[in-house]
Amino acid sequence: MAVTAVPDSISEEYYQINEAILDSFSKYRLPLDLFVFNYDAGQLLTYSRKDTRFSNEQVEEIRQLCSEGDLFVSRADHPIYSRHIAKQLDLVLVDQNLKETEVADISIRALESRLDEFFAQPVKPLFEKLYADVQVITEYLWTDMHRLRLFVRRLHTGDHSLVRHSINTFSVGLWLYMLSAPEETHRKDFDQAAMALLLHDVGMAKISGFITGKTTPLKPEEKEKIQAHILAGYKIMHKLDQSHDVMRQSTLEHHERLDGSGYPQHSKDISQFGRLTAVADAFSAMVQKRPYAEAKTLDAAARELTAARNKFDLSMSGKILTALVSDTFGKVR
Ligand SMILES: [Fe+2]
Ligand SMILES: [Fe+2]
Repeated sequence: MAVTAVPDSISEEYYQINEAILDSFSKYRLPLDLFVFNYDAGQLLTYSRKDTRFSNEQVEEIRQLCSEGDLFVSRADHPIYSRHIAKQLDLVLVDQNLKETEVADISIRALESRLDEFFAQPVKPLFEKLYADVQVITEYLWTDMHRLRLFVRRLHTGDHSLVRHSINTFSVGLWLYMLSAPEETHRKDFDQAAMALLLHDVGMAKISGFITGKTTPLKPEEKEKIQAHILAGYKIMHKLDQSHDVMRQSTLEHHERLDGSGYPQHSKDISQFGRLTAVADAFSAMVQKRPYAEAKTLDAAARELTAARNKFDLSMSGKILTALVSDTFGKVR
């Protein structure tokens, strides 16, 4: 096996492609430029340009180069590469060359397309696909809080969409969950929390875009229809055999408020996870531009939530504000 003493300057711009990743592409034609490390010259040389049609001999040679650790792709091709990996997300766990920021980007991209599919058609096979990807992501996030911060740094702050809102709620909520999770939290708890946050608003997928997109005040009957997303969401998840505690709490309780002013139960008795979802949900909604309201800055949203301590659990909204003030999340894009 060759010793791959690749200079640092090279690994900044290129990364080694491993066999699992290579196998995931069509073997006769790759959508990426390939490079080989030349030991005599001490540098990378172009092996082939993207979309070159390979002969059987070349396919063999490429495999050989790859197994010896001498095959590279350029970080300039990252958009193509990440689109590819997002479709087979488990590859992020075997690719040692991806930067943590790249894994976060790819994971979010994968969640976007899985959620899109699932919201369009909330059925078992699409749920399973989404769940498989979420498990890859939780496997990755589970052990390292820093990685989760990179997700929070990538909050969508542009126009509202159900998918983007759901991912925001997932990132913020899971960050809050990890901060307050007791020592004995199991991986399964973490997975369930992740799914519950991501799908807290699944019922909205059933509400007509005519109502959700309205810029004028809603009529009482339209308000009722929006509020029906709570029960609709719970029913969808129940039908998919996903009515475990945190899923039930997130779907049913995320619009309840501590002072009883929420809906649908006007309950003051809200579970810990219901309160967490409420904070993550409200914060995520406020930082996006909605049909009826401008986007607030992260800071303004966090301050508004902590000020509304009669409605939102201050022990959670306070954590967001503290992290923002102390710049724990780092620069939020
Ligand atoms: Fe909701
Ligand atoms: Fe929501």
